[in-house]
Amino acid sequence: MAEKLASESEIKEGEVFTCNTRIGRVALTRLNGKICAFENTCTHDGGPLNGGKLEGSEIVCPRHGARFNMETGEATRMPATESIEVYPVQIEDGQVVVDLDA
Ligand code: FES
Repeated sequence: MAEKLASESEIKEGEVFTCNTRIGRVALTRLNGKICAFENTCTHDGGPLNGGKLEGSEIVCPRHGARFNMETGEATRMPATESIEVYPVQIEDGQVVVDLDA
């Protein structure tokens, strides 16, 4: 089931917006104009990813430096080896609607 998580205007390039959802904390950011939604929990040791540095399409976990692609979820640097979840995003009437079951 899709959920409205934010207003489109709240999501900015170079920033991570997080929100509580029924499946846990989800992060939103804007990459080259497109809004991406991804799991906010690092697969290495469960640390939150928000607060981590953004480098291009990747976020760096602030705890031990693992990196994840925010569009695909792929873990691109150790110590994480498993991907994070990413979720499809649609914009409806200026609201960011995320399919948390995809
Ligand atoms: S918790 Fe993210 S790299 Fe360890």
